Amino acid sequence: MKDRLIALIDSALDTLTANGVLPAEARRPVQIERTKDKSHGDFATNIALMLAKPAGVKPRDLAQALVDALPEDPALAKTEIAGPGFINFFQSDNWLASQLEAALADEHLAVPRPQQPQTVVVDYSGPNLAKEMHVGHLRSTIIGDAVVRSLEFLGHKVIRQNHVGDWGTQFGMLLAYLEEQKAEEGDTELSRELANLETFYRAAKLRFDESPEFADRARALVVKLQSGDEYCLKLWNEFNQVSLSHCYAVYERLGVSLTATDVRGESTYNDDLPKVVADLDAAGLLTEDQGALCVFLDEFRNKDGDTLPVIVRKADGGYLYATTDLAALRYRANQLQADRILYFVDQRQALHFQQMFAVAREAGFVGAGVDLAHMGFGTMNGPDGKPFKTRDGGTVKLIDLLDEAEQRAYQLVSEKNPELDQDELRAIAHAVGIGAVKYSDLSKNRTSDYVFNFDLMLSFDGNTAPYLLYAYTRVVSVFRKAGLSLNQVDGELLLREEAEQALAARLVQFGEAVQSVADKGQPHLLCAYLYDVAGLFSSFYEHCPILSGDDDALRASRLKLAALTARTLSEGLRLLGLTPLERM
Ligand code: ARG
Repeated sequence: MKDRLIALIDSALDTLTANGVLPAEARRPVQIERTKDKSHGDFATNIALMLAKPAGVKPRDLAQALVDALPEDPALAKTEIAGPGFINFFQSDNWLASQLEAALADEHLAVPRPQQPQTVVVDYSGPNLAKEMHVGHLRSTIIGDAVVRSLEFLGHKVIRQNHVGDWGTQFGMLLAYLEEQKAEEGDTELSRELANLETFYRAAKLRFDESPEFADRARALVVKLQSGDEYCLKLWNEFNQVSLSHCYAVYERLGVSLTATDVRGESTYNDDLPKVVADLDAAGLLTEDQGALCVFLDEFRNKDGDTLPVIVRKADGGYLYATTDLAALRYRANQLQADRILYFVDQRQALHFQQMFAVAREAGFVGAGVDLAHMGFGTMNGPDGKPFKTRDGGTVKLIDLLDEAEQRAYQLVSEKNPELDQDELRAIAHAVGIGAVKYSDLSKNRTSDYVFNFDLMLSFDGNTAPYLLYAYTRVVSVFRKAGLSLNQVDGELLLREEAEQALAARLVQFGEAVQSVADKGQPHLLCAYLYDVAGLFSSFYEHCPILSGDDDALRASRLKLAALTARTLSEGLRLLGLTPLERM
């Protein structure tokens, strides 16, 4: 609706410019706000106040001229000029009702599909395989997944890329330890050895630090691995498969849509790295600095004004994270034919991505038409405001965190519903516990840090998963009571009460909310929307009896509104990666 109003006002401004009322250079982007007090209409703009001075007209006169020039639109019931020159817009209830009817009649809730669907490559999760997934990978994984689901819902083609860290010197140490363990314990099951990657990594690191002889072996193994030695590659591969299976277990537990086919790790680009460097050279971008090959771009400088290098090959011939990312970027633009490439990676890598994008553009690895965006996120902190750690200062394994969340949710729901059987309790605890962890993250602005807090995320009050999941069960319980399914609604929509109008006006904005997630990579916008809808339903439910009244037409209309609320909440929760429950 906002976009629609902006287009209307822009068209009116065009008319005023053509008539000579408004100088073209005075034009500004139109801002539309939704009004708090519905007696002032549903939306308002201050554009006449902004432009009055440059136009040399009184604000109220300009507002009147604008209103006169506004094209007819069925969505608008009327406009009003208020105060010093605000323009208030009143939505038409008939139009609103027809929008709701369209949404009810459509599986896709009448959210339009794009005229030109894009191919969007989304880089997310990307854990390092040497270690177990830890909380640092949680944000990337769940935010990325919510955006992917939103893009797909809107009708775009998404190619998921799980850029796992499966290469690097630490693998020498791990392979040396693996070899040692195999020799010591005979042909023990590899999976048993690696049941806990974290312990395995620590043990290997300990050996590496205490034994120079082991360290030498580890280094030799890296060299062998890099030169493509078959035995080393086999060990390495075995290790990675085990490590990846741990990741899949986490994805499954989280209900994240990543699978084995989405994995394209750093190592897949190995053969391409010399070519990347050669092509940068051919583009005239390389400078040698103390034996290392670097790209210096003018726009990247440190505090002292010195240009910062992007090192693409070390003096010893080794390649870097950046080199791999350049290869990946080119692959995504050219082979995958991406229109847009999104990276859900920690905000602390912001400079890395800015540099990557600039170098890639400069070198012609990606065309000007390809949109590149680093969707950075802040840190998940512990109660002390510092990055989340275990009590003894170690990194928190993701799987442990999820176990605790489900445990706590189980406690909560079993106290609330002692009558439910174990299986159902477990299923509810799973949806609530995992949902709470995901939602508490998704509902925050992606770019800020936040404090991880079990008590807050599991609260039934406020913008939380339990609140929203519960709100959904409340809506569907209306239908259970009435003995109806969500599809069994008909009759005319009557939007007479304010609570009905407010809920209806928000429901028709579902598509806009999803669109903003897809555009900005900010799932919290959808969270805020759903929270709003749940709140509006709540006041509607309080003020407008659905089943108890004796007016059949009113009852049918209210059931329709409830049905669309249920479907909107359920689709929205699903896009965020949460599981709506029938009861809890
Ligand atoms: N493995 C990296 C890390 O843990 C994240 C990878 C992000 N993706 C990328 N294309 N660099 O920091």
